[in-house]
Amino acid sequence: MQKRLLFQNNQYQKQSLDQMKATSGLIKNTLYRPRVANRLQQNNLIELEGIFLKNTSRRFKSSVNIAFLSKMMQDYQCNSENFNNVIDITNKLGKEEQTNQQNSNLDRQNRKQLPEVPWFPTQLSDLDKIGKKVLIFGDGIEEIDHPGCKDPEYVARRKYIASLALDYKLSDPGIPYLKYNENEKYVWKYCFSRLRELFKENACAEYNWALNEFEKKIGYSTEDIPQLDDISKFLHKTTGWRIRPVGGLLTQREFLNGLAFRIFHSTQYIRHHQIPTYSPEPDIIHELVGHAPMLANQEFADFSHFIGLASLGCSEEELLKLAAIYWFTVEFGICKQEGKYKAFGAGILGGLGELEYCLTDVPKFYPLDLDEITKNHLFFTINSMQPYYFVAESFTKAKDMVEEYCKNLDKPFRVDYDRIKQEIIVDGDIKMRKEITEQGPLF
Ligand SMILES: [Fe+2]
Repeated sequence: MQKRLLFQNNQYQKQSLDQMKATSGLIKNTLYRPRVANRLQQNNLIELEGIFLKNTSRRFKSSVNIAFLSKMMQDYQCNSENFNNVIDITNKLGKEEQTNQQNSNLDRQNRKQLPEVPWFPTQLSDLDKIGKKVLIFGDGIEEIDHPGCKDPEYVARRKYIASLALDYKLSDPGIPYLKYNENEKYVWKYCFSRLRELFKENACAEYNWALNEFEKKIGYSTEDIPQLDDISKFLHKTTGWRIRPVGGLLTQREFLNGLAFRIFHSTQYIRHHQIPTYSPEPDIIHELVGHAPMLANQEFADFSHFIGLASLGCSEEELLKLAAIYWFTVEFGICKQEGKYKAFGAGILGGLGELEYCLTDVPKFYPLDLDEITKNHLFFTINSMQPYYFVAESFTKAKDMVEEYCKNLDKPFRVDYDRIKQEIIVDGDIKMRKEITEQGPLF
């Protein structure tokens, strides 16, 4: 016998999985697309045998909880006159399938009006397409500001390291080790040993814990430069994150999109040995000392992931806002711990001068306020010490604020990341632009 449930509209619910759990798994007047329904079922939120969407001509098969569906029929006082989407318990659709064919012209018309969004990666392999054009000195970075520009040996070395990143694919078994030369090891030792002395007093507790783990389990020390592959494998075991090498600065959109896959794009070169205290661009001091340890902290890892998911397909305006939030938290965040200000941002933790400067009375300090950041601080200081910082009441509070902001973004679709399949699940009808948009350099 064929049984059907009919629903009043096909508006996709903008709710998190946790919110769905809180409302008993199925939401009134909501019909999920097959892949999302599949995910809900995997999380024991619903059980369905077949879903048929008239508007998308897709089906989904699985087991069914008839008692639950029967209750839904009562709850929503289902009748066939007022509803236009179908859940078919037996997956024997017959008439509805024919009706769907009749509606195909209407479907085509609807597709023409779908919201158009910038291209974004949905499969892990899509990330191999991005980062092909990076910005290095002479191309977005002032040469006069870069001590390595006049050193042909350093320039050649940078080109070689950039070529390694271009050759790397995420499907490769690992990131090839890079044998660093004596000049490079000198710079690492000079910077890391000095930063190390400041962390105990100036870095947040989460960072100090993570750095301790890195020293014990990856072998972080002043004597040699850690390898991206070792860090990537350690992070993958702890928080599910991985490192992908990149030759220079990425666009904001590319960099933030990578975070949605729990991929952190990292440079592999080090600043010039002539001025080890300064680099006009991110290098491994910034990446491996500033960023990497914090990614071993689950809260911080989630924090970055939220921003990455929010960046997928977002408008240019929203991208600027997300980049500003990222800047004042992940890059230059400060939080209160035991009555003192402590740094958790990579731009501070990986910056020789900034780590001391940020806790003096020279810069200004404002309470962390994402509305204020997204309204009045979209453009910020890049090439010198920050004139001001935003201070979170606690590290967890900062994470909660960013999570809340990202979940409430006004986008015509929702995305989630499937950690097992390593792909983005898109819930909503959108039309994706083909080109990869270019939006100013940053991280
Ligand atoms: Fe950074």
